[in-house]
Amino acid sequence: MTDAPTRNLGNLEVSAQGLGCMGMSHGYGATDDAQSMATLHRALDLGVTLLDTSDFYGAGHNEELIGRAVAGRRDEVVLATKFGFANRLGEPTLIRGDAAYVQQACEASLRRLGVDHIDLYYQHRVDPRVPIEETVGAMAELVQAGKVRHLGLSEAGAQTIRRAHAVHPIAALQSEWSLWTRDLEAEIAPVCRELGIGLVPFSPLGRGFLTGQYSSVEGLAENDVRRSQPRFADGNLERNLGIVAKLNELAAAKGVTAGQLALAWVQHRGNDVVPIPGTRRQRYLEENLAALAVELSPEDLAAIEAAAPVEQIAGNRYDATSLTFVNS
Ligand SMILES: NC(=O)c1ccc[n+]([C@@H]2O[C@H](COP(=O)([O-])OP(=O)(O)OC[C@H]3O[C@@H](n4cnc5c(N)ncnc54)[C@H](OP(=O)(O)O)[C@@H]3O)[C@@H](O)[C@H]2O)c1
Repeated sequence: MTDAPTRNLGNLEVSAQGLGCMGMSHGYGATDDAQSMATLHRALDLGVTLLDTSDFYGAGHNEELIGRAVAGRRDEVVLATKFGFANRLGEPTLIRGDAAYVQQACEASLRRLGVDHIDLYYQHRVDPRVPIEETVGAMAELVQAGKVRHLGLSEAGAQTIRRAHAVHPIAALQSEWSLWTRDLEAEIAPVCRELGIGLVPFSPLGRGFLTGQYSSVEGLAENDVRRSQPRFADGNLERNLGIVAKLNELAAAKGVTAGQLALAWVQHRGNDVVPIPGTRRQRYLEENLAALAVELSPEDLAAIEAAAPVEQIAGNRYDATSLTFVNS
């Protein structure tokens, strides 16, 4: 393991960049466990400690894969997983945050991961039918029982975060944050900072789009979730390509890739920010980690933001149903 840079999420020390493991089981087309395992081991060898998964990814497959990857190396890893989607991918969304479900979901995740505790346990989406106090109260019991070390929320709104934090300290908020998704900046990130809650941006590469490798949905698998996301829909994708063209120009001038520039921009949001770019491939993992060394001046940051004006992004980040469960 190398001496990779670290950051803190609340009181939890993690590598300055984590690895998003979702695509190894779910959402982005065909998967290959041998390739994913090699990428996971390479990440650990390079000093990545934060591995991000969920019971939802591949209906448990992702947790089992990660459990196998960390066997024998448990102490090197900060294992982060999530509960809350009680449906499978493709079925109507069913969010559950009731106390009985929290207990049951945690036991199932521990079993699949093959570990006796989870380092960071997130509620994946807030259950609108259950008071957050009940959900976080149940999560706090898991901490008291030694099954979970730190608590997190994902896509929670500012008031929910305050109420949750009053029940038990929240270490991290994991929400979408990238050059083309900045809605948490106005109200949510400031509340997290006031309360000492770390920020974990998911999809920091805009689901790959900001790398410039996706100029059409043609190359995507039939079951790739991006095919049904508004920003990748006909017309919108073409309009959004203008952002990538400008990012490519700025990246070339700095001798980096567009993806590295987009990641470096997220990393420059603050020392309490730990992005978790997702990849199945060692090559992308290494490219993404190298973004930690990209230094951006205030002029660079302004030019990058001018290349991706939020009001010019075509399409919502999620479909209408999924949007009802974010920032809530
Ligand atoms: N809390 C939540 O609700 C939530 C939602 C979404 C995601 N997440 C978490 O956040 C993680 C990251 O988000 P994400 O995977 O949706 O999006 P992302 O990190 O923005 O992008 C991932 C996509 O970009 C591609 N990619 C990665 N590095 C690349 C590079 N250097 N050059 C070209 N392409 C590259 C990946 O390809 P390959 O896979 O082919 O390598 C994958 O298709 C997930 O793995 C998951 O753990 C959480």
